[in-house]
Amino acid sequence: MTMTATPHDAAKFLRARLGERRPKLAIVLGSGLGPLADRVEDAVSIPYGEIPGFHVSSVAGHAGRLVAGRLAGVEVACLQGRVHLYEGVDPAAIKQPIRTLKALGIERLVLTNAAGSFHMSSDEGSLVLLSDHIAWAGLNPLVGPNDDEWGGRFFPMTDAYDPAMRETLKANAAKLGIALPEGVYAWYLGPNFETPAEIRALRGLGADLVGMSTVPEVLVARHCGLRLVAISAITNIAAGMRKGQHLSHDHTQKIAKLCGERLEKLLTASLAGLLTA
Ligand code: HPA
Repeated sequence: MTMTATPHDAAKFLRARLGERRPKLAIVLGSGLGPLADRVEDAVSIPYGEIPGFHVSSVAGHAGRLVAGRLAGVEVACLQGRVHLYEGVDPAAIKQPIRTLKALGIERLVLTNAAGSFHMSSDEGSLVLLSDHIAWAGLNPLVGPNDDEWGGRFFPMTDAYDPAMRETLKANAAKLGIALPEGVYAWYLGPNFETPAEIRALRGLGADLVGMSTVPEVLVARHCGLRLVAISAITNIAAGMRKGQHLSHDHTQKIAKLCGERLEKLLTASLAGLLTA
């Protein structure tokens, strides 16, 4: 499939495959977090390679399919795996899946990712709710002529991480006894992990955690008016902060999997509330 397919082409294709399903909420599952999509009931699963204009991620641990069905009684569409700009794709490749969700009738988005924490007290395997971000990678998928169909040229990023949806997640986390601190996410391009000097710089800038995804999707989603929250699975303390710690993608995937159960509990308890927040 070529990138010339529009989000409407992709949505039309998906509508035919989704049958009676009418999801209003979508979940993007990051590194190691994909298994949540296996919990979806009455599921239809469509490989990205079949969806017009979708790019197939080359990263291990990203299955690369859209799974639609019911999770905790709520109709959802899960993106099981995502593309990252460090894969060398045109930043525009990020626009297609997010705008396709919008064209499909999705109103709310839950983004997940794996991240490194700047707080020594963070447990590996714990969750952090994003309150804001720093687009440190300096890239933006919206660079280029504005497509007015999706949103205006200049748009605000204040409260990009929806305050009411965040309150819903925090209230459910408290009920379940799941720690869910908020933090500012720094987007690092990758594909390498950061240097210790970069981590010191990012801490000084006011970030709490770092990862290689999510922010481009947030930019595209806010441009087209999707309301969203994002949750990070803390897989490690950031580079240079813990003596002897060796960062690797294997470790990221292993620890993110451990977060999966906690994330599943939190999300299944929150989905209905997230739709009405
Ligand atoms: N840095 C960037 N991305 C990550 C990290 C990290 O420490 N951990 C998991 N994803």
